Amino acid sequence: MEKLILRDEEFKGIAEIVEARSGIHLTNQKRNLVFNRLRPRLRSLKLDRFSDYLRLIREQPEELALALNLITTNVTKFFREEHHFRFLEEQVLPAVVPRGEIWRAWSAGCSTGEEAYSLAIICREGLGQKVKWRILATDINTHVLSVAQRGIYPHEAVAHLPRAMISKYFDIDGGTVKVKEFLKKSVWFRYLNLIEPYIPLRSPLDVIFCRNVFIYFTRETQRDVLMTFHRLLKVGGHLFLGHAESIPTDWQRQQGWVHLGQGVYKKVDGKAGR
Ligand SMILES: C[S@@+](CC[C@H](N)C(=O)[O-])C[C@H]1O[C@@H](n2cnc3c(N)ncnc32)[C@H](O)[C@@H]1O
Repeated sequence: MEKLILRDEEFKGIAEIVEARSGIHLTNQKRNLVFNRLRPRLRSLKLDRFSDYLRLIREQPEELALALNLITTNVTKFFREEHHFRFLEEQVLPAVVPRGEIWRAWSAGCSTGEEAYSLAIICREGLGQKVKWRILATDINTHVLSVAQRGIYPHEAVAHLPRAMISKYFDIDGGTVKVKEFLKKSVWFRYLNLIEPYIPLRSPLDVIFCRNVFIYFTRETQRDVLMTFHRLLKVGGHLFLGHAESIPTDWQRQQGWVHLGQGVYKKVDGKAGR
């Protein structure tokens, strides 16, 4: 087999198709990452050239989906950026009152599900039975979604959580833990591409967590996705962004967001997304 090389025009071609399909912007610094993540796939297909693989992902949607599974970065953990869950627990959930409709939070870019299950734990503790609630959790990566749906993690994934929480919400089985069935039932995992113009979610939503996803998007994509979030959230609803992400102040004014600190934004009435 020939030595694999990722040439300029091949990288450019892959980056273009990845951005068009997912919004993920692959700068030149990501070249090694692309090479290392795709190389095993080329080897298993017995391809010697990235140009052949490029042709394949252009022609076969299933192969492109697989390439995206390999290229997306899916680092996550239970109660990551814990202050956001504290904010929910202390500032948002106590104000929720029983009403006809279901209270909904969306984990957008949920990866392997830890964020969504953390939200479910916080809701179970803070809303319990007094209000009907549901967690929607979506991602573009079909592999991480299947892990999320299974709800089985190595024990180390929960080692930083209080013991009482572990025994209440997880079944321990040797070196792994499994999310208990009653908690799993409150989380709804689905494939969803954030850059699609139509987002098939019932709105209005009460809370959106979209953390550590915007960092991979261009400013233009970020602005479009924010408009979608604005449209889907109810007035007074909250958006949570990751520690390295923020909404520029001119967009806050234009779209109708107020920054409450630490990546937490509140939707105020605005004309965005209409
Ligand atoms: C680093 S993980 C963040 C996981 C979790 N939100 C957290 O903060 O721990 C980023 C996730 O965004 C997903 N993603 C990237 N582009 C996406 C898109 N266009 N639509 C939906 N999900 C996307 C990736 O597949 C990945 O699972």
